[in-house]
Amino acid sequence: MTLASLQAVPEARADGSLGVWRMETERFGDDELDLGATWLDEAERRQASSYVRAELRRAYVLAHAAARLVLGAATGVAPADVVWGRHACPGCGERHGRPRAEGAPVEFSLSHTPGQVLIAVADGPVGVDVERHPDDPVALSGLLHPRETEEITAAAHGTLDGGRATVRFTRAWSRTEAYLKGIGIGLGRDPHLDYLGTDEAPGRSIAGWAVHDVRVPEGYGAAVALLGRPRP
Ligand SMILES: CC(C)(COP(=O)(O)OP(=O)(O)OC[C@H]1O[C@@H](n2cnc3c(N)ncnc32)[C@H](O)[C@@H]1OP(=O)(O)O)[C@@H](O)C(=O)NCCC(=O)NCCS
Repeated sequence: MTLASLQAVPEARADGSLGVWRMETERFGDDELDLGATWLDEAERRQASSYVRAELRRAYVLAHAAARLVLGAATGVAPADVVWGRHACPGCGERHGRPRAEGAPVEFSLSHTPGQVLIAVADGPVGVDVERHPDDPVALSGLLHPRETEEITAAAHGTLDGGRATVRFTRAWSRTEAYLKGIGIGLGRDPHLDYLGTDEAPGRSIAGWAVHDVRVPEGYGAAVALLGRPRP
């Protein structure tokens, strides 16, 4: 596995303040997976082996290996020498907030789901999320902001143009989760509280964060949130 084998997402190309890397997990062979696994620390290996489904384990290992590769390159150390940790959670102060690499001059976020991995690296707090389209977006839409629920339901009933209900759900969910991961509280804050919208949009601002969609293959949705910056 090399940096060249990670795809830089076009809309969020590294510009000094933000880089987003995307991986299609099925493009990596077992040799690369095995090599990536040797870079993980003991806690990561334990976490990896706790996944029963091979596709989840694969996405986890590749995400952590890729993050180590990117962070190691940013800090001048080998991927296995990146010291993985967590920021304090802004909700309770425990060390289960955003991931961090000790001594690194950058912040990062990662997201993995069967088939896709995203890594975002920035010089300030950042959150990224990739999600597969759900089978029943209307059932899940109640988790989101009430206006987003309305938009998704209307799209499902054919009374709102501009995108299928699944696409709208995944947009709103990935935007919200990217923002909540950027803050570091994750789903410790109710996703019902923040409106990020279900429409196609060049970007959204919320509480000093810039949130914009990341281009991913059909069947997925993704977004990245960056604190205190205009949209890249
Ligand atoms: C973080 C969270 C949103 C992940 O959602 P997901 O869609 O299942 O998974 P993703 O692949 O998109 O993201 C997972 C990554 O988010 C990161 N992450 C975990 N907690 C995080 C947090 N609080 N803030 C930001 N990032 C976080 C980790 O790097 C994690 O990857 P890893 O488990 O491989 O290390 C969800 O697990 C969560 O919110 N957990 C905390 C909930 C909570 O109640 N916390 C207590 C508050 S006091």
